[in-house]
Amino acid sequence: MKTLYLPAADTQTAHTAAEIIKSGGLVAIPTETVYGLGANGLDENAVLKIFEAKGRPQDNPLILHISDPAEIERYCHHIPKAAFDLAEAFWPGPLTIVLPAKSIVPKRTTAGLTTVGIRCPDCTVTREIIRLAGVPIAAPSANISGKPSTTTAQHVLHDHDGRIDAVVDGGPSRVGVESTIVDLTEERPRLLRPGGIGPEQLMEVLGDLIVDKAVTAQIDKDDVVKAPGMKYKHYAPQSEVVIVGGSREKAAEYIRHHFEPGDRVLCFEEELPLYESCNPLSYGQEADVSTLSAGLFAALRELDDPSIHQVYARCPVGGGVAYAVQNRLKKAAAFHIIDAEEEE
Ligand code: TXA
Ligand code: MG
Repeated sequence: MKTLYLPAADTQTAHTAAEIIKSGGLVAIPTETVYGLGANGLDENAVLKIFEAKGRPQDNPLILHISDPAEIERYCHHIPKAAFDLAEAFWPGPLTIVLPAKSIVPKRTTAGLTTVGIRCPDCTVTREIIRLAGVPIAAPSANISGKPSTTTAQHVLHDHDGRIDAVVDGGPSRVGVESTIVDLTEERPRLLRPGGIGPEQLMEVLGDLIVDKAVTAQIDKDDVVKAPGMKYKHYAPQSEVVIVGGSREKAAEYIRHHFEPGDRVLCFEEELPLYESCNPLSYGQEADVSTLSAGLFAALRELDDPSIHQVYARCPVGGGVAYAVQNRLKKAAAFHIIDAEEEE
């Protein structure tokens, strides 16, 4: 199959993409978080193609993308006020809300759950595609399962050229990490995945928030978790990743001491001079954490190279989107973290 390349700026793009979606095909769509691998979320056969293309386990549900917050009521019921409050505050934007699903949503999409994740993305061309298609677009991150997410059309083509119908190029994703997921199907709101909307921002609207254990700890295959995707290996390059915490100086001391030829250092731009002899790769500026979230997955993809033995990674501290960057890096490192302040 030839994968159509559709630039977002081209006036025909939304129509062409919407036609492919309507006819049951796969279109990679840009969003402000990461690129998604999209199909008609109400069509079981179309949705099945997503799982096949990604190599995604079928017990891992997909989220539905809508073009307008009002569409939430087409696909969900028993919607609590908190959902409307979150939608009002953060949509269109990097937030997915998990709610009870109406029966119109196929079990293939929800992986058999009675709930569904919904998101209205902050990306004009993608909302236009959804509107023209007249159906919600089910879309996981467009990476091959287990690999770092896709934040450019080039990443998508790297993983799927010739295996999907089209990719819409909307330029690099602005946020760079996937959406924040909040589950509103229990008594108390629960954070299932940190993302572009920080926990502090959620608290301001919700006044209450439980952080799911899948966010803060390694989850085993047999653990029962609210977000089924959390138990799978994620974001990991082929090399071993270890996070080195502590002050800039202590971390540099530790890393330079342990560094061996064939290793790499993933650091902040401000730290590059400290690692001149260690083949460093910067993923953004520590002083501007939005550059770190935007650059993280491209960097992890560059480090996805079997010739690299060990990656020493520096991780930002703090809340907001830094909390999401910490979460993704910890998962890439399988929670392997060293505190350079405590090392000799
Ligand atoms: O930013 C994003 O959310 C991107 C873009 C394309 O919108 N999409 C994305 O989808 O990250 P995916 O499939 O890679 O991650 C969605 C996560 C998975 O871990 C999945 O298990 C979880 O959301 N999820 C989906 N539906 C759920 C549900 N009903 N209950 C709990 N977790 C759910
Ligand atoms: Mg994903």
